[in-house]
Amino acid sequence: MLKEQVERLKRVEEEATEAFVEALSSRQLYEAKVKFLGKQGAFAELMKLMGRLSAEEKPQFGKEVNLSKQRLEGRYQEAELKLKKQEMEERLARESLDLTLPGPEPLGGARHPLSLVINEVVEILAKIGYSVRLGPQIEGDWFNFEALNIPPDHPSRDLQDTFYIDSNHVLRTHTSPVQIHTLLNEKPPLRVLAPGSVFRCDSDVSHSPNFHQIEGMLLDKKVSMADLKGTLAFFIKELFGSSLKVRFRPSFFPFTEPSAEFDCSCPICKGKGCRMCKNSGWVEIGGCGLINPKVLMHAGVDPKQWQGFAFGFGIERMAIIKYGVEDIRLFNENDIRFLRQFE
Ligand code: DAH
Repeated sequence: MLKEQVERLKRVEEEATEAFVEALSSRQLYEAKVKFLGKQGAFAELMKLMGRLSAEEKPQFGKEVNLSKQRLEGRYQEAELKLKKQEMEERLARESLDLTLPGPEPLGGARHPLSLVINEVVEILAKIGYSVRLGPQIEGDWFNFEALNIPPDHPSRDLQDTFYIDSNHVLRTHTSPVQIHTLLNEKPPLRVLAPGSVFRCDSDVSHSPNFHQIEGMLLDKKVSMADLKGTLAFFIKELFGSSLKVRFRPSFFPFTEPSAEFDCSCPICKGKGCRMCKNSGWVEIGGCGLINPKVLMHAGVDPKQWQGFAFGFGIERMAIIKYGVEDIRLFNENDIRFLRQFE
């Protein structure tokens, strides 16, 4: 009985050796290993036949099986090494690098449309003597409201409109507080521009909780509404084209007196009427006015000696008009397909 089994074992070993040597890939080799040495492989089958052997034969056969397995393990490793080497060589030949090929074109960066508008506004007003000031985005309540003559019961102070940091600090709701910082820190005459992020609890197609404004302020002797209108007319013509007109509409802001809102004839249809201007021929740009003497006094400036004007407008709105963007939220989404259009 033993002899017969050992013969069988030999045959299996020969078959396995052949399969190992003839395997054409590591995958095939591995499959051969499973077939012979795996849990349900040919060797496992042989072991099942142990039961037919006598008590003395069993250990002898076991020894033969172990020796055979050891030999096969060695042959397997040899074959594996050979195939791995061969496969690596094939791969290296196949994947050779052509170092003369041009590299992939790097993605170019581009300015954000809001930055484009800010830069353009700053450049235009620099021509008539304005320079940039920046203020903090977290403002003291006094700077954002009190000093600007916005009384405690003013609707803009409502929790619904303003993000409060604590009872004394807010995320600035407009860029106007930069007026106060400048008045407190610098000596007139002054011509300043303050672009920056502002925050309000508001969100829909045309409102974003974080948007941008540009504040302008001039402080000098004998300043009038005529100076303000001349400045804004110059600015609008430079920005949108010389054929456009500017108009004032009476309005109210606590920090200016008198106050106005300023519109320009629609840059899209040149005043004929279109979707952008809702067929009125005019688009609203921002607010303006002569600086309220109370504001000057809060900042330690003598209103008998110095007067000024101020204006402020939303940058998103300018970009919407300039580039025809339909949804204000696009500015914050960082969608490369949107941004690419401004390269
Ligand atoms: N701060 C105003 C707002 O956020 C805009 C504004 C109006 C600014 C009139 C001014 C101004 O400087 O004179 O709605």
